[in-house]
Amino acid sequence: MEKTFVMLKPDAVKRGLVGSIIKRYEQKGLKILALKMLQVTEDLAEKHYEEHRDKPFYRELVNFITSGPVVAMILEGPNAIKLVRLLNGATKAEDALPGTIRGDYALTTQENLVHASDSSESARREIALWFPELSF
Ligand code: PPS
Repeated sequence: MEKTFVMLKPDAVKRGLVGSIIKRYEQKGLKILALKMLQVTEDLAEKHYEEHRDKPFYRELVNFITSGPVVAMILEGPNAIKLVRLLNGATKAEDALPGTIRGDYALTTQENLVHASDSSESARREIALWFPELSF
């Protein structure tokens, strides 16, 4: 069993897609271990995206993620990290295939609805960052 961190970004909440997106993870068979809605602070956003600090889109990304409430989750299942990223689809809007969350619902790379951990190291780091109240 593997755990992964998933965030439904402000565009998912604003567009009323939270239920539809979570349904896809559940239908796949992934288990929701933890879930909360929160307003992301600048501090949390900067820590979350610290590996992208030098990228040209970094400030825009932090501004976007703090622009409204998000839904943070821990999902669990066999190969959960890879499976969730497959369900999410490619980061770039133009590469996201139909049948994936981004391929079906997202039109731009910034407003791409979902974030998911890309490795076991980032899953560990992000779960600890977003759910400090939990101990796994
Ligand atoms: S990179 O450059 O390959 O490391 O970037 P990538 O891993 O594909 O994306 C990292 C996160 O940055 C977001 N992103 C962008 N936001 C705004 N504008 C542009 N151009 C852009 N390019 C990438 C992307 O959605 C990733 O966010 P998360 O939340 O990790 O999915």
